Amino acid sequence: MHRVVALLVCLVVGARAGTVSVAPNRYEREGRIVGGEDTTIRAHPYQVSLQKKGGSHMCGGSLISHNIVVTAAHCLQGYKASTFWVRLGSTLYNEGGVRIAAEKIIYHEKYDHQTMQFDVGLIKLTESVLETEDIRYIELARTTPETGTPAVVTGWGSKCHLWCMSLPKVLQAVTVYIVDWMKCASDAYKYGDIVKDTMVCAYEKKKDACQGDSGGPLVANDQLVGIVSWGYGCASDLMPGVYADVPTLRDWIIETSKALQN
Ligand code: ARG
Repeated sequence: MHRVVALLVCLVVGARAGTVSVAPNRYEREGRIVGGEDTTIRAHPYQVSLQKKGGSHMCGGSLISHNIVVTAAHCLQGYKASTFWVRLGSTLYNEGGVRIAAEKIIYHEKYDHQTMQFDVGLIKLTESVLETEDIRYIELARTTPETGTPAVVTGWGSKCHLWCMSLPKVLQAVTVYIVDWMKCASDAYKYGDIVKDTMVCAYEKKKDACQGDSGGPLVANDQLVGIVSWGYGCASDLMPGVYADVPTLRDWIIETSKALQN
């Protein structure tokens, strides 16, 4: 089961980058931030686009300080820092704002690509960025909001999976509702115990993050509460989007950010 989930949900990043090819499967027909709408970077100024140099958008991320971006471990695994640059401060992933190369990347030592636990990683930028109207550092939540709390997930995830190559150029946003991991692992939803305590879910009928949104922000009360990690398809009934739980990973993020400064 674990293996199936990890395969189903996250190979598309590699597939798009041309490193992995996966057969189309019946779980992943729907695309992009599902059920969302166009938004602007000014409304979500912490959002960044993680890109392969000279390539296209690959994953989302969130700026948390003058030179650190938080993303998903599965966006970084197998790559060198020199592979990436990050675009900040633009509503469009392919132009505008500023583009800065990655200097160092690191992901959680306990990240497990089968269970998707500890799906968090950091990028240190080669240059520092100051805050502007379109670029802001987001605070890390200390506690997971209660089940039912509205949260916004944003990204440039693909419009449809595998059958459609183009990504929305304009940042998309959608509101979903927090489901804590115990509730998410309960009979109320379809995942069962593959949802772990390092994760938090968010759900709304017909609304979800999707492939290419990975690594991006789930925000409630102006704080980063989750990192887009996995899901069975996108916006499937009773299958919430699953996120790395930022409060659980907060200490690692802070300690590791410090270590990256040296
Ligand atoms: N692993 C996917 C990616 O690499 C993100 C999947 C999120 N899926 C979801 N249904 N919320 O982009």
